[in-house]
Amino acid sequence: MSKNWWRILLVAALGAALVFAAAACSGGQKPAGQQPAEEKKQIAVKFSHVVAEGTPKGQAALKFKELLESKSNGQFKVEVYPSSQLYGDKEELEALQANNVQLIAPSVTKLVGFNPAFQIVDLPFLFKDDQAAYKFHDSEAGQKLLKSLESKGIIGLAWWPNGSKHFTNSKRPLKKPEDFKGLKFRTQSGGVLDDQFKALGAGSQTMAFGEVYQALQNKTVDGQENTFNNIDTQKYEEVQKYMTVSYHGRIDYAVLTNTKFWNSLTPEQQKLFTECMKEATEYERKLADELNQKSYEKLKNSGKMEIYVLTDADREAFVKAMQPVYEKYADKIGKDLLEAARKCNQ
Ligand code: LMR
Repeated sequence: MSKNWWRILLVAALGAALVFAAAACSGGQKPAGQQPAEEKKQIAVKFSHVVAEGTPKGQAALKFKELLESKSNGQFKVEVYPSSQLYGDKEELEALQANNVQLIAPSVTKLVGFNPAFQIVDLPFLFKDDQAAYKFHDSEAGQKLLKSLESKGIIGLAWWPNGSKHFTNSKRPLKKPEDFKGLKFRTQSGGVLDDQFKALGAGSQTMAFGEVYQALQNKTVDGQENTFNNIDTQKYEEVQKYMTVSYHGRIDYAVLTNTKFWNSLTPEQQKLFTECMKEATEYERKLADELNQKSYEKLKNSGKMEIYVLTDADREAFVKAMQPVYEKYADKIGKDLLEAARKCNQ
């Protein structure tokens, strides 16, 4: 064999060794373009919601994105759309069922068309505080309620609280049930809220969250009820003169996905999704109280609204005036569910 042949063989052997070493260093991965389709495919998750980013829901949605993207090493790509950018209240439920969006977190009141029992959080003065509501969320009854949407192609993944609601309006201070007479309030959805206002002698109009500021501004409605944080982040103090701190009902969310998307995931991916949701839920719960307290301070300091805090005696008068709501809805919501919720106050 000539010298040249030896050189050619040596160069070929060195080349082969280099290729082998490179493959070993890359963990045996094939070069891009030669990977099987499932290794390369990124799973897109759209998360649509109606509130501002600086809310417990807005922040927890971003936390979930961060967790799922990093823990899946980029296999999932989560896009969060706040402030009804993608869909409003009604549209987001339809979009979820059509798998045009994979995650939404509506206030459970807006699920009344699927299951009227979700209106339990609207029953006046039902939960004595946030802790009692969280206990209900975690209870067997609360979890069963969350899972009750499966026949509609919807899977409930978690309860996310916001907090207690308070009244605002543009006409007068609301200290007693009689003060509500003749006023018109915006409601989220469902009969319980309409009947709550009826019991106070007021009218109501259901309206998507994204339309409320304008409706308050142009006086289509006189008032609304919401958490401190929603009032603050929507800047309702610009268009409302009075706030009554009442803690009379709640806003709680159900984080929902659809069965088509869920069943397209492998068991490992579902497990990771569930784990990240659990972590985001713990984060959201801590944030809910903190952000509502901050917003309350901000609303007080801004001095834009006259704020009245119900006394114990005022509260008793409201409890009494709103009693007919319980009589009308106890059966519709379910006596067992109501009992389970009341137990959480103990
Ligand atoms: C509302 O419609 O007032 C709330 O449910 C909005 C929200 O998602 O907090």
